[in-house]
Amino acid sequence: MIQPRIVALDGPAGAGKTTVGSEVARRLGYLFVDTGQFYRAVTWLAIHTGMINADEESLTALARNANFELRPTGDGSVYRVLYQTQDITDALREKGLERKVSKIAAVAGVRAALTPKYRELATAHPKIIMAGRDIGTVVLPDADLKIYLDATLDIRAERRHQQSQSEGRLTNIEDTRNAVADRDKQDSERAVAPLRPADDAVHINTDHLSKEAVIDQVMAVIRAWKPASATIGEVH
Ligand code: DC
Repeated sequence: MIQPRIVALDGPAGAGKTTVGSEVARRLGYLFVDTGQFYRAVTWLAIHTGMINADEESLTALARNANFELRPTGDGSVYRVLYQTQDITDALREKGLERKVSKIAAVAGVRAALTPKYRELATAHPKIIMAGRDIGTVVLPDADLKIYLDATLDIRAERRHQQSQSEGRLTNIEDTRNAVADRDKQDSERAVAPLRPADDAVHINTDHLSKEAVIDQVMAVIRAWKPASATIGEVH
């Protein structure tokens, strides 16, 4: 079976990109890269260096000079994020940080600093699934396959709420819903690389699908993929 080398996986917060993308990557032998983690990592660094309210130029320099190391875990499909040997992966999911990340991700210079790093990763790996908001539209517009995962706000908020609870964090559904709505608004209304599906993306609405069912659908789309030349060849 010929598989797409680069799969772009976009969609709003809570649509299931990380859960589904990492599992599909594990099963099909891809590296999974979640670009949201890099915006989170820059936000973490900005908080820890007292620069969270700094101007665009300083934040851009911070993003450009920061070296986050990716350390693969056992199966090679996912990795841990290290900053100067410190494993910051778990800290990247904290709520305090989450409230600030959309603001950092909207800074044009921060995006300009990180986007080439994503492209390098895509070039360096033989098979990669890259998740984010603008992968199919801006980062890798020539990706072999583009998938856009979506779900309604209520369902995404409910999933985030359940996830937080299962991780032992106390959250309230209304606050979670407001936080997800706020991130949707910031991610889709920003001037640079806003969240939107690429014209040639395959859409999957996950509202009424279990996690397993979404994984199955994404795997089916990847397995059904044909190189562009083969597709053209089949048109009669
Ligand atoms: O997917 P996530 O929740 O980890 O993303 C964190 C933030 O980064 C979120 O506000 C959207 C932003 N982001 C982005 O602007 N572009 C990407 N390619 C990935 C994430």
